Amino acid sequence: MTLFLVVVLSFCIARSNVDARIGTLSNETSYFTTSDIVRHDVDIDFDCIDIHKQPSLNHPLLKNHKIQLYPTFTRNIVPIRPSYDGKIIERCPIGKVPIHRKTKRHQIEGFQSNSHEYHSISLDTNQTMTFHGGYAYVGGYNLQLTGKQYSLSGIWVESGPPSNLNSIFVGHGVMPNLYGDSQLHITTRWAAGGSGCYNIHCYGFVQVKSDPYLGMVLSPTSIIGSFHKLALCTTIKQDKVTGHWWLCIHPKPVCFGYWPKELFSHLRSGASIIRYGGETYTPPGMVSPPMGSGRLPQEKYKNSGFMERVEIINSEYNQIDINPRSMKINKNVNLSCYDLLYRGFEGGSARHSFLYGGPGGRSC
Ligand SMILES: *[C@@H]1O[C@H](CO)[C@@H](O)[C@H](O)[C@H]1NC(C)=O
Ligand SMILES: *[C@@H]1O[C@H](CO)[C@@H](O)[C@H](O)[C@H]1NC(C)=O
Ligand SMILES: *[C@@H]1O[C@H](CO)[C@@H](O)[C@H](O)[C@H]1NC(C)=O
Repeated sequence: MTLFLVVVLSFCIARSNVDARIGTLSNETSYFTTSDIVRHDVDIDFDCIDIHKQPSLNHPLLKNHKIQLYPTFTRNIVPIRPSYDGKIIERCPIGKVPIHRKTKRHQIEGFQSNSHEYHSISLDTNQTMTFHGGYAYVGGYNLQLTGKQYSLSGIWVESGPPSNLNSIFVGHGVMPNLYGDSQLHITTRWAAGGSGCYNIHCYGFVQVKSDPYLGMVLSPTSIIGSFHKLALCTTIKQDKVTGHWWLCIHPKPVCFGYWPKELFSHLRSGASIIRYGGETYTPPGMVSPPMGSGRLPQEKYKNSGFMERVEIINSEYNQIDINPRSMKINKNVNLSCYDLLYRGFEGGSARHSFLYGGPGGRSC
């Protein structure tokens, strides 16, 4: 009986929190605003490269690839000149796209999810069917990480057997070894048949807009203890006509690049599983890094990592709410380190939301 009361009580508190934040999360604060830090990064770390000469087109599978400037699902949307905080940020000239200067080919580290160095906690689809993408507001916080530690949050689309897993991750991450700082960056990773990498550290992702771009700093971030939250609103969606997997950022959808279907043996015909959550890497001899906000979901929306408006693109290419009955929580971790709390529909603009993350630590 006590347990029952506690559950009901925490649900009611969370609901009132949801109501209290509708006004802020649904409009201008529902995506990351950018700051001067981003401009700085454009100047320092990125080169503007002719869109038709970008490194990804050197991939042997993309020899005859014709660049798509828009997904067919947004072709009628007039692109809006992006402006953040009312400022127009510095961008590449028309016909050029920003490419990270430190681009070097390196293979992915990771994916041995059975290894104790990698921890993930996620809300996964649990149905045998084909999906064509996912959508979520991925809450973002500053985290202090060092060296090769990393902490990612976002959406995975996956297909294929473990020996030839095809996967794309989109979201954000703190990865000091990759970025040279402990800030939150737009981060992606893809893999197919044993090859793959982060962002554009190997040939694959085709960038078609000058802004945003992979590796972009997300700032400012959410503050623990405040209801004013910042999230990266992102979609990964397969184009029904071309089969390519597009990455889009909202609220005004800007589809700024894609992974061509030619890269994939399995994902080209759709995904068999969509996962929403976080992943951390603990280098040997170091403690496991924080995930989400660095607090457990038991600390509630105000303090925890969160994802809101979690939706799925189904086999008919329709974007719909996830259904609690066809999702399962993958929490193969020490729950004092990381946890995930999903109760279904939360109402308001948050719709299907969950809290996740935790402090990490020595005994994960
Ligand atoms: C955000 O919401 C507030 C309160 O509902 C409203 O006053 C404001 O105009 C909205 N801002 C935008 C950019 O839509
Ligand atoms: C996931 O699917 C399996 C097989 O269909 C089923 O046995 C299991 O109960 C499902 N889990 C959840 C949490 O729905
Ligand atoms: C889980 O983590 C907690 C806190 O770090 C630790 O005290 C506990 O021993 C760990 N449990 C296991 C089974 O490793």
